Amino acid sequence: MTYKSFILCTFLAFSISFHEISAVDYFVTNEATNTPGGLRFDKEIGVPYTKQIMGTINDFIWCTVFQQNNPSDQKPLDSVDVYIVEFEGAEGISWGNNKINISSIFLQGYEGDLKWEFTSLMYHEMTHAFQWDGEGHTPSMLVEGIADYTKLKAGYAQEGFAKPGQGDSWDQGYDFTARFLEYCDELVPEFVAILNKLMRFDFDVKYFDYLTGKPVDQLWMEYKAKYEQY
Ligand SMILES: *[C@@H]1O[C@H](CO)[C@@H](O)[C@H](O)[C@H]1NC(C)=O
Ligand SMILES: [Zn+2]
Repeated sequence: MTYKSFILCTFLAFSISFHEISAVDYFVTNEATNTPGGLRFDKEIGVPYTKQIMGTINDFIWCTVFQQNNPSDQKPLDSVDVYIVEFEGAEGISWGNNKINISSIFLQGYEGDLKWEFTSLMYHEMTHAFQWDGEGHTPSMLVEGIADYTKLKAGYAQEGFAKPGQGDSWDQGYDFTARFLEYCDELVPEFVAILNKLMRFDFDVKYFDYLTGKPVDQLWMEYKAKYEQY
């Protein structure tokens, strides 16, 4: 059965008739049903819940994180495909533009609220499907930082997520870069949304300068100074 989500960002209620409606299919396949992690997926998370949160997350990414209320700004995807697969070395991986593999071994071993942790992971992995990466020119650690920023904004930062001011460089990646992006958002409203838009076709570190009036190294120094206790 196909689960289609119709997403309509409604920032401009008065112009609603001009909106086109975007539709993305969500496919979820448990290829590890005969493993402990695959069984735990079916018992504690399940395909219906996964498809449901994929719609919620898709909506959150387009409407809130990237502010892409116009479908022509969105990365065009027909579907996002999730596979529960037995592999080691990561909790999840995104691949092939719109696909996500979740490790059944990770699901098996996780101690705590698995459904919550899975949801948090899905915020990160789904961002990869929808974000612009400068056609491959955006530094991979900034790409990872934006994926963790989505998680942070959604209230799904896991225990151990970096605190504001932590980290060694702006492009350290993941939670460290996510906290730095949160700081950039304080300086320039919708910073991450605009940065993502700028990265549609290319990346230049000067985008930071262009948006804030300061080079990224200076921004990082001022960020660290603000939270010098770390
Ligand atoms: C993800 O899982 C699918 C389905 O088993 C497999 O075909 C694909 O190669 C995997 N991708 C990666 C990057 O491991
Ligand atoms: Zn990632």
